[in-house]
Amino acid sequence: MITLELSDRAGRHVVLREVDDENWRAVADVAPLDDQRPYVPALAARYLLLSSREGVWHSMAVCADDTVVGHIMWGRDDDGSYWLGGMLINGPEQGKGVGRAAVRTLMAWLAEREGCRELRLSYHPDNTVAARLYDSLGFQPTSDSSGDEVVAGRPVFDGRPTTLNSPSP
Ligand SMILES: CC(C)(COP(=O)(O)OP(=O)(O)OC[C@H]1O[C@@H](n2cnc3c(N)ncnc32)[C@H](O)[C@@H]1OP(=O)(O)O)[C@@H](O)C(=O)NCCC(=O)NCCS
Repeated sequence: MITLELSDRAGRHVVLREVDDENWRAVADVAPLDDQRPYVPALAARYLLLSSREGVWHSMAVCADDTVVGHIMWGRDDDGSYWLGGMLINGPEQGKGVGRAAVRTLMAWLAEREGCRELRLSYHPDNTVAARLYDSLGFQPTSDSSGDEVVAGRPVFDGRPTTLNSPSP
């Protein structure tokens, strides 16, 4: 389990758990709102399959207390950067502070991985909610792209992103 001891706006503890025999069905069923379908798959099941088939990404369950409310995944690039991806909060659970807490939690954990010098992620340029969230956590667009997505990054200093604790919880 990965935790930064962060809570959502309802006071639920937001933690990241390994996907296991108990929770994988709930993670697979995580779905975006209909108008978010241009940006992410219809179900987090697609991310789970990507993680298990290709061995590049590592899926985690985003939990609020004991309830699975989302999916997030991470991967390591050969250049020493660590990637966050597959950020998806179940439609009815959005806007409660879970997404921000989940990203901050994974950022802090990745920053402490061996040799981590930069955190990276990508998002569709029209996905303004995600873009604002990542911008507020210090991610700046790079000149790189991934398909039709903007690649954004932020350096890691002394094992931790410097402004990790600045944004509101
Ligand atoms: C992007 C996403 C992960 C954010 O998760 P979330 O749990 O809703 O996020 P939070 O509740 O922590 O809110 C984060 C910020 O986004 C804002 N926000 C969330 N939903 C919003 C909406 N529908 N419209 C406008 N702003 C919104 C919040 O106000 C908050 O801003 P603040 O912290 O400055 O007040 C979630 O909306 C989602 O799963 N979207 C569909 C999948 C997706 O786009 N993933 C990102 C792919 S790169």
